[in-house]
Amino acid sequence: MISSEASVFGVIGDPIRHSKSPLMHNSALQALGIDGVYTALHVKPEDIGEAIRGIRALGFRGINVTIPHKLNVIPLLDELDEGAKFIGAVNTIVNDKGRLIGYNTDGIGYVRSLKEEVEPDLAGRRILVIGAGGAARGIVYALTQESPEVIWIANRTIERAEELALALQHCGNLVGIGTEQISDICGDVDIIINTTSVGMFPHMEETPISLEGFRTDIIVSDLIYNPLETTILRQARERGSRTHGGLGMFVYQGAYAFEYWTGQTAPIEVMRQAVLKSLL
Ligand code: ATR
Repeated sequence: MISSEASVFGVIGDPIRHSKSPLMHNSALQALGIDGVYTALHVKPEDIGEAIRGIRALGFRGINVTIPHKLNVIPLLDELDEGAKFIGAVNTIVNDKGRLIGYNTDGIGYVRSLKEEVEPDLAGRRILVIGAGGAARGIVYALTQESPEVIWIANRTIERAEELALALQHCGNLVGIGTEQISDICGDVDIIINTTSVGMFPHMEETPISLEGFRTDIIVSDLIYNPLETTILRQARERGSRTHGGLGMFVYQGAYAFEYWTGQTAPIEVMRQAVLKSLL
């Protein structure tokens, strides 16, 4: 039941009509009997300032932020969480009695998903991250908090990989390399994580790298969740490796946002099933 005291949440983006967040969050609110509602709000880039002021004026409790606003909202907020500050992007806003606080739950959501679904202990692991864009930045930051032995960041444009490794050098052992140098280290890798869009619908036959030379007892993870199993994940599964798709990251980034807003533990399985049902 939604009363006149309901907490209001939403996601702002452009475009936004494809978003699965309303479905996921409303099923979570309902499952926990919370008096609240979550809606998709189409906000054009030129309207972002008014939209953020509107959050305060209308008393929204929480907002998710998606493309193209993740960077532009930052100067409009009152406070930034440490992680969001480093990543330079916000995907979650908490309205604390008119004070807007920005978080980034993408990276920590990804890592929680990897740990709960495939590998609880990342300490001492040797991780290869493919890509050095916005998504990689959040994920590498969150991975450094898990004490891996080394994180190689491999990118088509080596300079971006080196820049990201340098920006986080105080957090752990990070090495930026070019994609062509992957063959030098592939035998040492325990976990591969694809953060690029290579393999995403509709170019589903593409793979970001070849699995030749990697051991078969590795974990292969892909941020993409459309398709649910990318070609590289299928190849990994067929070689007998453990795999991890991108749906979990989407669910857990939402779960963290839900927990920041409501103070309650997110009903992960309810959220996952709501999204999964809409994708099948
Ligand atoms: P996002 O926020 O999704 O990470 P981004 O910041 O544009 O988006 O970064 C995209 C990443 O995917 C980059 O690492 C990019 O490599 P470059 O830095 O060399 O551009 C990588 N990428 C995208 N398309 C690619 C392709 N066809 N082959 C290899 N890498 C690709």
